[in-house]
Amino acid sequence: MTKQFILDLVADMTLEEKAMQMTQLAPEFFYHKEPARLTGPFRQWNFEEGQLASMGSALGPSGASFLRQFQEDYLAVSRQKIPLLFMSDVIHGYRTIYPIPLAQGCSFDESLVERAAQATAAEAAAAGLHVTFSPMVDLVRDPRWGRVMESTGEDPYLNGVMAAAMVRGYQGEDPSDRGRIAACVKHFAAYGQPEAGREYNTVDMSRGVLRDFYLVPYHEAVKAGAAMVMSSFNVVERIPATCNRLLLRRILRSEWGFGGVVISDYAGVDETMNHSVAATPMEAGKKCVQAGLDIEMMSGVYAATLEKLVKEGQLKEEEIDECVIRILELKDRLGLFENPYKDADEQDEKSLLLCEEHRSLSRQLARESMVLLKNNGVLPLSGSEKIGLAGPFADTGCILGGWHCEGKEKETQTLKQCLEDALGRAVPTAMTTAFQYSDRGKAPDICVGDLEELADSEVCIVAVGEPEWETGEASSRTNLRLTPHQEKLIHSLKQVGKKVVAVVFSGRPMELSPVLEDCDALLQAWFPGTEGGGAVSDILLGKYNPSGRLAMTFPKNVGQIPLYYNHYQTGRPLLSKEEHFTSRYIDCDNDPLFPFGYGLSYTEFSYSGLEVSQDGSQASILVENCGNRAGETVVQFYIRDVSASVVRPVKELRGFRRVSLAPGEKRRVSFTVTEDMLSFYNEEEVWIYEPGEFDIMIGPDSERVERTRIFRK
Ligand code: GLC
Repeated sequence: MTKQFILDLVADMTLEEKAMQMTQLAPEFFYHKEPARLTGPFRQWNFEEGQLASMGSALGPSGASFLRQFQEDYLAVSRQKIPLLFMSDVIHGYRTIYPIPLAQGCSFDESLVERAAQATAAEAAAAGLHVTFSPMVDLVRDPRWGRVMESTGEDPYLNGVMAAAMVRGYQGEDPSDRGRIAACVKHFAAYGQPEAGREYNTVDMSRGVLRDFYLVPYHEAVKAGAAMVMSSFNVVERIPATCNRLLLRRILRSEWGFGGVVISDYAGVDETMNHSVAATPMEAGKKCVQAGLDIEMMSGVYAATLEKLVKEGQLKEEEIDECVIRILELKDRLGLFENPYKDADEQDEKSLLLCEEHRSLSRQLARESMVLLKNNGVLPLSGSEKIGLAGPFADTGCILGGWHCEGKEKETQTLKQCLEDALGRAVPTAMTTAFQYSDRGKAPDICVGDLEELADSEVCIVAVGEPEWETGEASSRTNLRLTPHQEKLIHSLKQVGKKVVAVVFSGRPMELSPVLEDCDALLQAWFPGTEGGGAVSDILLGKYNPSGRLAMTFPKNVGQIPLYYNHYQTGRPLLSKEEHFTSRYIDCDNDPLFPFGYGLSYTEFSYSGLEVSQDGSQASILVENCGNRAGETVVQFYIRDVSASVVRPVKELRGFRRVSLAPGEKRRVSFTVTEDMLSFYNEEEVWIYEPGEFDIMIGPDSERVERTRIFRK
């Protein structure tokens, strides 16, 4: 539609209608029912019938039949016939569930991640949705925080690449195209750094750290064309992101040129009062509108205050119009004025949801997301070994992970089923009692049973981890270890002479030091989604050579957290263990259990012959598969600015390449080193390149790198 069409609509709106266009509620509000599935606290807001007939968008509905009916019922009572926007948390799949985003980050395969997002969009669009609250790109360094599962990890560059891939996958060239949906990047900004890893806790960081690390992925998502941005619950520099003008006006709109819609997180507008930056709903409404917060999710401050704020002269109507115009422009960008039902189609739902193409895509992404952390040669299994299976994740479909949208555990083949299908025989199993939601937060003794049932097994696959409902939102934990009974299961099996292959299902890096020694092999499976059982089986039986690399550091113990690779040097770096006055602990070293970028293969790769061009613009390395199996490695390119006007990280990922090599095959892999890669925000927040010495590093992970120092003008 034309801009004039939109302006005419806005001109015809009452102030109440404008306030409601800026309000998002669960569908039940419109139908006067109790909200069924809430993703946050519920406060009763008394909306008038007429107000609900002009609400702008709905949170969390799904299903083509219901959404067609909902849109029809709504348009029947809407005075101006402005279609509703339907938005939901389609985080890693709609009905076909893909690995959690933290696992997807470990694939280092942005093209596959993009394809998964596109397949997800096709399912969600057929089910009638218009917007997904994804990608979540919060940079994470603290596995005590439950939502690390939703992020693609600790690195700004990797998160930015994956964020852009997901936006492209969801939106394509035009989100109004069939099978596409709008992306809403979240949570802007720095929600991933709550103090002590405690959910919803204060975030406090320097502007420089915000610029160096946390803002990068959101910017990449905006550059990729994300239609929406969701503000985060937390404060940034003591002001809640929901009403933070630095974030929403200066950085997002002025610096980055974002012209789309900003939505609060759940009840974020109301919670500005809990944050104590607004004494009344009137003050909350005024501050959020003036910060440029277009849609209030799941609270009724705008509905209750905007008309009064204008009538009292505390807000200009034009400030509200600015928000409403952006919302209507988004609806227009999605083609809703021409077709309010967009792609909602029950036939398409039937043919697309869980279709074979999407399942095999999910299986491939699950294979590439898993990380082999230890292997003393026990893997891959030939299948002729006497194999036993134990642990709470051995025979459960609860491997989808948090935020699994419409995914169903019963549509997920278990590890046991997949192993037995692949082997063509029953696999002796014991102690497979799965976790129950009723045990949430406890450490139930689910490893009850008798080791005797595995007496004949030579190799025991032990499927352990944390239950998916102890990850995600409102799931911070202070203890990252496996439960005592799971640790005891691993130790006991080792003590009776079994070869132990541990498979960890978790939404975060867990503290695996206590069991590592007793594991002959250790595979981090994350929450791998609908086809996760099959992907684990493919790797254990050697049908797929693991290629995942860690997108987040695994600490030796929780006391080291936050522990990440791209840290600043400090004035007393730990360069020698003999030195007393250095940045270290007296009871543990500084090293992670497994570093960022780490992962093993069933073959061996050598990296040699690092070369950097005279002008420092090209770097390359020779990679060889010196084992006897084909495999893929992730060649990682890092830089370090040796000396600058502000401190710089000791290492920064600036490129990666998945490389597939046959046994004996060699390939020289090159990276272009641009000035932009070596630039940063200086003390005055100016993006700047400073000539000088730089380290150029390339290797298989963030620790094992070939490095050379160059001087660049
Ligand atoms: C939740 C989450 C956010 C989600 C929203 C809607 O509280 O913080 O990620 O998109 O509410 O469900």
